[in-house]
Amino acid sequence: MLIQEGLARIEFEELDEVFFNPRGKLSRSFGVLGIRALSRALGEELVVADAFTGVGTRSIRYLLETGDAVAGVHANDSSAPALEFAIRNARLNGVIERMKFHCLEARRFFWRSVEANRFYHFIDIDVFGTPMQFIPFAVNALKRQGAIYVTSTDTAPLCGINRKAAFRNYGAVTENVEFCHEAGARIVIAAVLSASARQAYVARPLFTLFDGYAFRILMMMERGRKSFPHKEIGFIFRCPSTGEVKAVKQHRLGTVDMECPSELQAIGPMWLGDMHDPEFLKLMLESLSENWFDERDRHKLKRLIKTMQMEIDMPPFFHDLSVLADRIGISTPRKMDMVNALRREGFRAGVTHFSGTGIKTDADHITLARIARELVT
Ligand SMILES: C[S@@+](CC[C@H](N)C(=O)[O-])C[C@H]1O[C@@H](n2cnc3c(N)ncnc32)[C@H](O)[C@@H]1O
Repeated sequence: MLIQEGLARIEFEELDEVFFNPRGKLSRSFGVLGIRALSRALGEELVVADAFTGVGTRSIRYLLETGDAVAGVHANDSSAPALEFAIRNARLNGVIERMKFHCLEARRFFWRSVEANRFYHFIDIDVFGTPMQFIPFAVNALKRQGAIYVTSTDTAPLCGINRKAAFRNYGAVTENVEFCHEAGARIVIAAVLSASARQAYVARPLFTLFDGYAFRILMMMERGRKSFPHKEIGFIFRCPSTGEVKAVKQHRLGTVDMECPSELQAIGPMWLGDMHDPEFLKLMLESLSENWFDERDRHKLKRLIKTMQMEIDMPPFFHDLSVLADRIGISTPRKMDMVNALRREGFRAGVTHFSGTGIKTDADHITLARIARELVT
């Protein structure tokens, strides 16, 4: 089967869905934008590692679609049949000279890179389930300043559906609440941050994407220990009966004081800082307007990044309007009506890419319920 994605032509056997997932397209496009922006931010051509390359789609797109941002790509996969397709596809797309191939278990690949004195600016970790066991190895294969593009498909555990797995993989407590996907992304960020800190790297998120299937987070990593942002890590508490939600930083945990007729839900530890770097999102938007081959894709990506910009400097959770309407027994108000009404009253309010029915605001739950009632009656 031959498909076209971006500028890449990719051949694979239909049975090999394990190695090529069409649902990964958005994350690959974000990878392209991330690489363009990172190369500009660092002022360098990047050496890239695609540690779980499958049939090579990411590597090839990164080479074909980033101009001169990429010096070369090391593509790895532990599956020999997948790698054979990756090599064939690299040849088909005319990029084989700029690639090196490895057929190793990913941890061994990273370790061999270190032994060969080969360090990367950008490492892509796109594996099923949790990426956490690979983080310490990947971080050691980074240059002093570089980025790791982490995928986690653990959406159910991170949404409180398999709490044991969430605790095992991320050391976190999860709940199946309306904003669980945002909370899940924040838990992954905190877990990557701690795992990298143990390897003497300080991490911060450049962008955080939930594509409906997986979390895709680009984390900047810099060697050092001093600036570890422990105060940006904390918990979210939610009262299921009143809908009140509070984010509490870890050094303020003793101050939690919420009136709740039912048992409080606690979620975390998680990253409570911004999920995106505003300057980095700007660089991504700039590089998107320079050249992108598909107008429909460009439009979709631009809209998504603009929504992410609205998530910056907002509380680390959102309110789902249908959950709110159910709780107070009204019909669901229209999203933009709510946002505009909140803004008219002087609150900050905006939409979120995590949910089509969610809004972010600094208004409290009582104000939110009052405005919703006023809008639908
Ligand atoms: C999600 S697929 C990769 C898809 C690819 N990155 C893309 O965007 O099309 C995961 C790949 O990781 C490989 N894999 C799984 N576990 C691995 C491991 N521990 N080390 C190296 N490769 C592994 C699988 O063979 C599979 O090709």
